[in-house]
Amino acid sequence: MKIESKIKNGMSVLGYKKGCIFACTNKSFGECLSYKIFGTNKVYSEKVYKIKKGDVLFLLNIDNDTLYGPFIADSDGGKNINPQIWNGRYPYQVKVSINGEIKSFKNASRLLKKLNFNWKEDIFGEEVIEFLMKILENPDVDLSKIPIPQVEVDEKPKLETTTLWDYPKQSYGKTPKGDNKYPGVTPAFIIYNLVRRYTEPGDLVLDPMAGSGTTIDVCREEGRRFIAFDISPTRPDIIQADARELPLKDNSVDMIFVDSPYGDNVKYNDHPKDIGKISAESEEFYDELEKVMKECYRVLKPGKVLGWLIGDQWVKKKFTPVGFKVFERLCKYFEPVDIICVVRRGQTSNTPVWHDRAIKFNFYLRGFKYLHIMRKPNEQGRKTMENRKVKWGEYERKKKNDL
Ligand SMILES: C[S@@+](CC[C@H](N)C(=O)[O-])C[C@H]1O[C@@H](n2cnc3c(N)ncnc32)[C@H](O)[C@@H]1O
Repeated sequence: MKIESKIKNGMSVLGYKKGCIFACTNKSFGECLSYKIFGTNKVYSEKVYKIKKGDVLFLLNIDNDTLYGPFIADSDGGKNINPQIWNGRYPYQVKVSINGEIKSFKNASRLLKKLNFNWKEDIFGEEVIEFLMKILENPDVDLSKIPIPQVEVDEKPKLETTTLWDYPKQSYGKTPKGDNKYPGVTPAFIIYNLVRRYTEPGDLVLDPMAGSGTTIDVCREEGRRFIAFDISPTRPDIIQADARELPLKDNSVDMIFVDSPYGDNVKYNDHPKDIGKISAESEEFYDELEKVMKECYRVLKPGKVLGWLIGDQWVKKKFTPVGFKVFERLCKYFEPVDIICVVRRGQTSNTPVWHDRAIKFNFYLRGFKYLHIMRKPNEQGRKTMENRKVKWGEYERKKKNDL
C-alpha cells in the first residue's frame, strides 16, 4: 500500500523517502505536540540534519514504551528552530505537522529490537516507514507472525569520549575514504571525529596537505563543504598549492585538519617544495611547518578548531620529540583544546624483526601519534576563561574497608 494514502487530511507528502524516530518522556510528549516541534541533543544532531521537509517521523515515549505516529516533518531538520523551548537542552529540532488521529503502539522497545537498528541515530527508508505505519494501524498484530524489514545502515565510527584513540583499520563504511595505499594516509576515523565534534553540516573544512583526500571523502559523506590543497595533488578535487601560501581569504574556514609530514621519513612526491624532504632533526623543518600554522591561523575563523596529527621520530639512535616541538610552535598562534594519543598500528616496523631489534638495541618503536586539537582564540572565549572559577568537588576519602 502507498504511504501517501495512509496520511490523513489529503496532505501532499509526495517525494518523501526517509523516516526516523524521536524520543520523548511523559512530560515532554504533550510539549512536542503543542509546540509542534521534536528536538534532541548534540549526540543525535546528525540524524536531525538529514531530515527533509515531508519526511515521516515517529515519536517514542520512553516512559510508557509507546510509539506514536505518523507525523510529517514540516521543515528541514536544523538547529534552534525554537531556541527557547526545553531551556535550550534539545536544540536540534524539526517542525512537525500532525495529521488527524495519532496512532500508538505499546511495547515499542520489543518492536524496535526486532527491526535491529539504532533508532536513536539511524534514518530509515520507505520499507520501514510502511512497516511502522502498518503496525500503528494494527496495534494488536502478533509480531512473530509478520515479516520484519531489516534496516540497512552504513557503518559509522563511534564518537570518541577519551583521549586515547585506537583504530584497527584505515577506513570505515561502504565507500573508501582516501587511499589506503597512499604513504602516510590518515585513518579516516580521526577526521570523522573532528568533523563531527567541531563542525555543523554545511561548514567549510580545509585540508592544506590533503594527500590522498581522506578529509574530502569524510566531509562529502557528512555533508560538510571542503577545500583541499597539496603541493602534489593526487586527484582532481585537490588543488595544487603550497600550504605556506594558501589562496584563501582571512577568517574564511570553519575547521582545519592537517596531517603534515613528520620529517623526511616518507617520500610523498618529487616536488621540491615538499616539506617532507626536510629532516625533523633540523630546526628548518619546524620553521617551515610554522609557516603553514601561520596560514592556518589566518584563514581559520576565530573560535574555530584546527586538528594537527604528528608523530615523533627515532632514527639511528636519536630520538626527536617532533610532537612536542610542533605543539610548541602551534601554541604561538592557537590555544590548546586537548591532546589525543592515536595508537599507531599499520607501521612497516610492526614486525617481529623490529620488535626483536627494539629489545636488542634498547630503543622503542613508535607506538602512538599526537593529535593536537587547537583553537584560534576569540574575545568571547578569552573572557570566559579569565572569569572562570574552578570549584573542585570535595569527595570524602573512602575508608579502607569500603574499597
Ligand atoms: C601525511 S600526508 C597527508 C595524508 C592525507 N591526510 C591522506 O589521508 O592521504 C602529507 C602531505 O603533505 C603534502 N605536502 C608536503 N609539503 C607540502 C606543502 N608545502 N604544501 C602542501 N602540501 C604539502 C605531501 O604531498 C603529502 O601529501
